[in-house]
Amino acid sequence: MTLTTDQENAVLDRIIGERRSCRKFTEKVPTDEQVEGILHAGLHAPFAAAAVGNSEDYFRRFVVVRKGSKAMKELAPLVFNEVVKMGGDLERAAAGNAGLRSQAAGFMNRLAAIKGMGMLPGVGTAPFYIVAAEKKGFPPVELQSLAHCMENMWLKATALGLGFQIVSVTAQMADNKEFCRILGLEHGKWALMGCAIGYPAEALSPSIRLSVREVTSWPA
Ligand SMILES: Cc1cc2nc3c(=O)[nH]c(=O)nc-3n(C[C@H](O)[C@H](O)[C@H](O)COP(=O)(O)O)c2cc1C
Repeated sequence: MTLTTDQENAVLDRIIGERRSCRKFTEKVPTDEQVEGILHAGLHAPFAAAAVGNSEDYFRRFVVVRKGSKAMKELAPLVFNEVVKMGGDLERAAAGNAGLRSQAAGFMNRLAAIKGMGMLPGVGTAPFYIVAAEKKGFPPVELQSLAHCMENMWLKATALGLGFQIVSVTAQMADNKEFCRILGLEHGKWALMGCAIGYPAEALSPSIRLSVREVTSWPA
């Protein structure tokens, strides 16, 4: 069936509107084909060609870690410890800095809540924890490229009826040698970002935002 341009746009608008952060997953495991479809979308997101140049290493890689796998058991405590360390570092930095304390209050509460849970939601709580790796280049814009990659993956997951959660502490794990070893990535060479994927445990409303007119100006 061939869709008209209007129909294709209606589908795209629906998927954009339905994209939400999913933080609770069922035990049902998406198929490997679905996961590969999501990775295909991520691979087709833009990359900073001028920054990474030509080399034998492809600019982007993915590591798919299954819930219950040996790799997941090894890396989940590393990621959790990184969150605890971040929380401790931030508490110390904010102790003598009222401005930082007030600015970072929400984030510090979130880190403290994760510490209390004893695990990081998304790493081991969903059927898949996927790490996307972007080759470091100059200027260092790897994290921007990874954001494009994640958004493509997120929209594809939404189109497949799957839930998606960004696991942003994955970026900090790029400096962790043991984490990189488990993933089979050369330490120091890659920037990282991660996400959790599975079937959503609860229905989420479409995304709610201000209208475009409320946040846009068109200066003369
Ligand atoms: C840069 C960035 C980092 C994020 N990190 C996390 C994260 O670590 N864990 C999480 O559950 N959500 C994370 N999110 C998701 C946001 O909290 C979420 O997009 C926002 O609350 C809006 O909700 P929505 O995605 O349902 O529209 C992140 C989003 C962005 C853009």
